[in-house]
Amino acid sequence: MKLLAILLVAAFAHAKHEEYIGWKSYFVGPSTKSHFETLQVLEQKYELDVLGRPAMEREGVVLVKPEHQDDFIRELDAVGISHRIHFDDVKRQLDYEDAVIEAHRNNVTARNGRSLPYNSYQTIEAIENYIDYIGRTYPNVATVVEPAKSFEGRTIKYVKISTTNFQDTSKPVIFIDGGIHAREWISIPPVTWAIHKLVEDVTEPDLLERFDWILLPVVNPDGYRFSHTNNRFWRKTRSTDQHSLSTMCPGVDGNRNYDFFWNTVGTSNSPCTDIYAGSRPFSEIETRVVRDVLHEYLDRMALYLTMHSFGSMILYPWGHDGSLSNNAFGLHTVGVAMADEIFKHSLPQFPRYVVGNAVLVLNYAASGAAEDYAHQIGVPLAYTYELPGLNQGFTLSPIYIEQVSKETWEGIAVGARRAGDLFRK
Ligand SMILES: *[C@@H]1O[C@H](CO)[C@@H](O)[C@H](O)[C@H]1NC(C)=O
Ligand SMILES: [Zn+2]
Repeated sequence: MKLLAILLVAAFAHAKHEEYIGWKSYFVGPSTKSHFETLQVLEQKYELDVLGRPAMEREGVVLVKPEHQDDFIRELDAVGISHRIHFDDVKRQLDYEDAVIEAHRNNVTARNGRSLPYNSYQTIEAIENYIDYIGRTYPNVATVVEPAKSFEGRTIKYVKISTTNFQDTSKPVIFIDGGIHAREWISIPPVTWAIHKLVEDVTEPDLLERFDWILLPVVNPDGYRFSHTNNRFWRKTRSTDQHSLSTMCPGVDGNRNYDFFWNTVGTSNSPCTDIYAGSRPFSEIETRVVRDVLHEYLDRMALYLTMHSFGSMILYPWGHDGSLSNNAFGLHTVGVAMADEIFKHSLPQFPRYVVGNAVLVLNYAASGAAEDYAHQIGVPLAYTYELPGLNQGFTLSPIYIEQVSKETWEGIAVGARRAGDLFRK
C-alpha cells in the first residue's frame, strides 16, 4: 500500500493525460434496433470514442468530450437509451490506473519467476525481449521471424512454433495475433501466454504435435508504445503518409485496413477519426504483415484468431453486412465450444462470452476487418475475440491479466482441437 501511495503521488505530479481533463465516460445500454441506430448517429455527431461496443443486454462504454456531454445525455434521454456514469473524471482515473499498473509492475514477488511476468502490462521492449529470448532458448521448436519494420521503424516480430520446423505440411496451422488496436492492452498477454504454454510450460503436448503455430503478439508496436507514452486511448497505427492531414492526425485503423469491402461501411475517410480506413487497402505495413502470414500458410491454416478488447465476445464473419458465410455452422459451433471452455475456467466477475456474427451481436457493421479478410481468402475458422474488461476501469486491472491469459488459452486449446477435427473433412 505504501508503494502504491508513493507512486500515486508521482503519477499525479507528472503531467499526463492532460488532453482528457473534463472528459467523462458513460455506460450506454441501447435496447432496440432503433437505439443502436441512434447511438451510431450520436457517435459521429458528438465524436464519441467507443471503448466497448454495446450488444443487446450488454452495455457499451463511450468517452465524451466536455463540450458534448450535456447534449449527448439529453439526446439519450429523449429516445430512452439507458446510461450511467462510468468515470466522471477521465484524467483522474487514468492517473490512478497508471499508478496501479506501475506498482504491480514493480512487485517482484508477483513476477512469479516467469521470463515474461503477467502481474502487469508489459512495455513493447519487454515483449520484444521475451520473443527474442524464446527464439534463443528454444531453437528446436521456436523460430522468431522479423518480416518488416513498423512505420516508425520498430521490428515487428512473430514466433513460429513447430516440432518439425513447419516441414510437415499435413499439419494444420493456427495463427493468433494481438495488439492491432493499440490501446487494447489486454489483447497482448493471451498471445504471449500461448507462446509460454507451447514452449516453456507444455502441459498439452497434443497441441504441439498436431499443429504448427504462428503467434504475433503485437501487430501495431508503434501504436502500442504511443498508448503508453502519450495517449492512453490511441487506437490506430502511427503512419503519417496517408493523407494531407496525416502529419497532424497520424494513423490508420488497422482493423478497417484489410482488403474486404474496404472503406464501405463503419469507416471514415478522415485521418482525424479513429476509424480511418487508410488511403487504400493494406496501406499499412502492419496489416500487410498479417496478410502475408495468412497467405503463406493459407492451404493449411485451420484457425485464425485476432485479439481485441472489450466486451467478452467471440465474433465471426461477415462483419460488413451481417450475412452468414457458407461455414457459418462450423464458425458458430467452434465459437460456442471456445466460449463454453472459457466460461468453465473464468471468474464470476467476468461476463459470460457472447458468440455470434459480428453485426448481429453488435448491431454495427464495419468493413476491412482482419477476421473477414482471413475468412474470405479461405481460412475456414476466423474470429475476433473481444476480451473481458471495462467494468472497473479503462484498463483491465493488472490482477486479472494472468486470469484472462489462462482462461483465453483454454478457449484457444479447444478451438485448435475442434479446428483440427474439422480440417480437410
Ligand atoms: C505483490 O504481489 C504479491 C503476490 O501476488 C502480493 O501478495 C503482495 O500483496 C503484492 N505487494 C504489493 C505491494 O502490491
Ligand atoms: Zn479492437
